Amino acid sequence: MNILTFETNEELNQVGANIIASLVQTNPYSVLGLATGSTPIGIYQELIRQYQNGLVSFKHVTSFNLDEYVGLPEGHQESYRTFMNNQLFNHIDIPMEQTHVPNGNAEDLHAECLSYDEMMSTSKQVDMQLLGLGHNGHIGFNEPDDTLNGGTHLVELKEQTREANARFFNSIDEVPTQAITMGVGTILKAKMIILVVRGKDKASIVKRALQGPITTDCPASLLQTHSNVVVLLDKEAAGELQ
Ligand code: F6R
Repeated sequence: MNILTFETNEELNQVGANIIASLVQTNPYSVLGLATGSTPIGIYQELIRQYQNGLVSFKHVTSFNLDEYVGLPEGHQESYRTFMNNQLFNHIDIPMEQTHVPNGNAEDLHAECLSYDEMMSTSKQVDMQLLGLGHNGHIGFNEPDDTLNGGTHLVELKEQTREANARFFNSIDEVPTQAITMGVGTILKAKMIILVVRGKDKASIVKRALQGPITTDCPASLLQTHSNVVVLLDKEAAGELQ
């Protein structure tokens, strides 16, 4: 695990975007695993800037997003499909049909999970999976539990997660109670993982995830078993690391 700590958000965004851009420059047909939430926004903005400056093209890239809320109407501002379109896809040259986000409005959600896995297994292996970190140690929406799921599945969101995400909605009552998420098994299959964490409020979970015991109680701790993880931290998030 390669842990890098940055003085400024700009530096962190630059390095995160450079790793992704250089993957795509080296292999234009890269498969990217993408995340939503506030954490990756600065990296996406830097990727857009590099695209606009002609440094990188996403024309042949395929993407798979980690997760999606269940039950938000199509086009809802806080659906992860809308987020990805607004924050990245609408500003680069990736064809929309090469982008994938689970469908949280599928009539049969279990069938949707199976077909997402099916699509991922028929595609090439994910070259890079980008991850943020939940305050409770979740990655994707894999919440702490006695056991974790390998593949894409339906989850009940923990109250703590709904509270953390309420800042994007008018009130906590509007935050969905369920989501579809890639499983930890799928995440760990990526050739490379970039975990990005910002802020003092995540310093203690960063320590647990990176230096604590490997346990399903902190799903991100399973990243310690992967051989190619780059962790990008601002100095606040790195504050409790030894
Ligand atoms: C988002 C996701 C979540 C977030 C995590 C952190 O696709 O899978 O695991 O990465 O909840 O969220 P932010 O970045 O908003 O603090």
